[in-house]
Amino acid sequence: MAMQRAAAAVVVVLLPLLVAAARTSALPFIVLHGIGDQCANHGVAQFTKLLAEWSGSDGHCLEIGSGTWDSWVMPLQQQADIICNKVKEMEQLRSGYNIVGLSQGNLIGRAVVEYCDDGPPVKNFISLGGPHAGTASVPLCGSGIFCIIVDALIKLEIYSDYVQEHLAPSGYLKIPTDMADYLKSCRFLPKLNNEIPDKRNATYKERFSSLENLVLIMFQDDAVLIPRETAWFGYYPDGAFDPVLPPQKTKLYEEDWIGLKTLDEAGRVKFISVAGGHLGISKGDMKKYIVPYLADKSSDKTLQWSISGLLGVTWHSAREALGLTEGDSAVLYSPAL
Ligand SMILES: *[C@@H]1O[C@H](CO)[C@@H](O)[C@H](O)[C@H]1NC(C)=O
Repeated sequence: MAMQRAAAAVVVVLLPLLVAAARTSALPFIVLHGIGDQCANHGVAQFTKLLAEWSGSDGHCLEIGSGTWDSWVMPLQQQADIICNKVKEMEQLRSGYNIVGLSQGNLIGRAVVEYCDDGPPVKNFISLGGPHAGTASVPLCGSGIFCIIVDALIKLEIYSDYVQEHLAPSGYLKIPTDMADYLKSCRFLPKLNNEIPDKRNATYKERFSSLENLVLIMFQDDAVLIPRETAWFGYYPDGAFDPVLPPQKTKLYEEDWIGLKTLDEAGRVKFISVAGGHLGISKGDMKKYIVPYLADKSSDKTLQWSISGLLGVTWHSAREALGLTEGDSAVLYSPAL
């Protein structure tokens, strides 16, 4: 008991110091939301705020155009160009930053890493439910005025120029039994993943493999991403809908088109599987799998590890010492990609 009380006392004294240390040293992060969402929505705003609080770093949800509407209808390359310009203008990102991607936002984030010439360096990339290897189905948008237009587009020829120019998810819809059309006419993902044999660009690989950590979070009950393993770069083999290949068995990995294998072999890819549906992450899992990478001080490894390590320990001890309990329900819910 005495020991515990002493430990609690140490925690009470140390905690503010450690939080202060983390606050001055952690890199800022940006959040890129998913389709049909916008920074002003409660879920993503709360998500950004909690991560900033828990990690002691500055978090910014970056918006593209009008938010919800543009996330559906603006081609992803254009969305990525907007974010590239924004991050270049943000003074506070100059010495580097981290990206937290939600669903479709991950592809925009990856395009920023791979294509954004003269942009500030990206250190850690934390991906929640990203359709990294594509998705074999676009969910219907739902009810509401603009969904009528969007759903009509989804039903058209998905690899046609018209749909490619007017429906963001058509840029990563990958039908394994229609690979020829996908490689020829899908405008976004084949380039991002260096999939087109005569058009591979070593710069994309070089930039992507320079990440310090790539955290790939997959949701065990994800019914939006088809297959859910795409969140780990797993996908169907060309020409068939089964079996789902684990990331290490895909050509993208084996032939190392974008540096995923390089990163993995260096121990810098974390394949994380969490309970819940698409983007339904719990507060506990946010603290466990996201916060440590945001509280990271990348230019000083020793300090970085000791601070995030201690922060984790003190956080748990403090909660135990104070007998705190807290709801662990999901912060984010999203009906779509
Ligand atoms: C590869 O991408 C880089 C960065 O966008 C670009 O500067 C370069 O011209 C590209 N190379 C080829 C061969 O297309």
